[in-house]
Amino acid sequence: MEINKTAQIIDGRLVAKKLKEKMKNEIVAMIDEGENCPHLAAILVGDDPASQTYVANKEKAAQNIGIISSTYRYPTDISENELLEIVNYLNNDPEIDGFIVQLPLPAHITESKIIESINPAKDVDGFHPINVGNMVLGQPGFLSATPYGIMYLLDYYNIKTQGKHCVVLGRSNIVGRPMSILLSRKTGNANSTVTLCHSKTENMADITKTADILICAIGKPEFVTADMVKPGATVIDVGIHRIPDSAKEKGYRLTGDVAFDEVSQKASFITPVPGGVGPMTIAMLLKNTLSAYKKEFYK
Ligand code: GUN
Repeated sequence: MEINKTAQIIDGRLVAKKLKEKMKNEIVAMIDEGENCPHLAAILVGDDPASQTYVANKEKAAQNIGIISSTYRYPTDISENELLEIVNYLNNDPEIDGFIVQLPLPAHITESKIIESINPAKDVDGFHPINVGNMVLGQPGFLSATPYGIMYLLDYYNIKTQGKHCVVLGRSNIVGRPMSILLSRKTGNANSTVTLCHSKTENMADITKTADILICAIGKPEFVTADMVKPGATVIDVGIHRIPDSAKEKGYRLTGDVAFDEVSQKASFITPVPGGVGPMTIAMLLKNTLSAYKKEFYK
């Protein structure tokens, strides 16, 4: 008889909760010592519903652990120059420890120009070229929150990366690309052998089948099926998609880039959607904010 073994769930919600509790205790102790509260700001342009939700969740999570949170909201037709002025204002406001510019921005604004205008010492998203450069070189700096959260989860669950083949699906600046670099770094003992797959990769399944750790950030619902996964692999799902489902009260269900039901029968560890990578992204943004407040990387 074939035994159907099910993967261990990587509980990002729990790990994020524990990390946030630890940070909250640290912040309470700092405030008891007479220090100011850390302060995180977000710039939100336009009325994209997903961005509104992300920013609201970040605000709530920050406030829950004693970080002051301010959101600067602007209409879609704000000019690039006006936005640059706002970034400059936050760069120079001593009350603000760190801030993010929620992406995507409207098409008439050049994202890279805005990101490059952020003071790297306040760039808690880790998107500025100085922080990206430090990450590549293995130097201290802010790490992009989602890949940072995935590294934290792998460490928490004692999933060894050294010498392992890690396959990353997706080459975005926010997730796939930094993920591929973090996993291959000597810093932090990641030491993986990394393959980065993307939309132009040929014979992708042949590659994913050799992955000890498979990071799925390709942005396609349930793209990764069981036949693409090596038995016993660790599967990390970064995707989050709404699929219409009339059986659900809300009229939709959430799913990731991985066909969870079948892949969880084959993997040894797997992140669920929701409750896997998502909660870690917010926790790591708060961790970066605390680092900015403590001037851990830039004096
Ligand atoms: N849009 C989607 N994810 C992110 C993120 O982590 N930071 C910012 N600023 N925008 C995003």
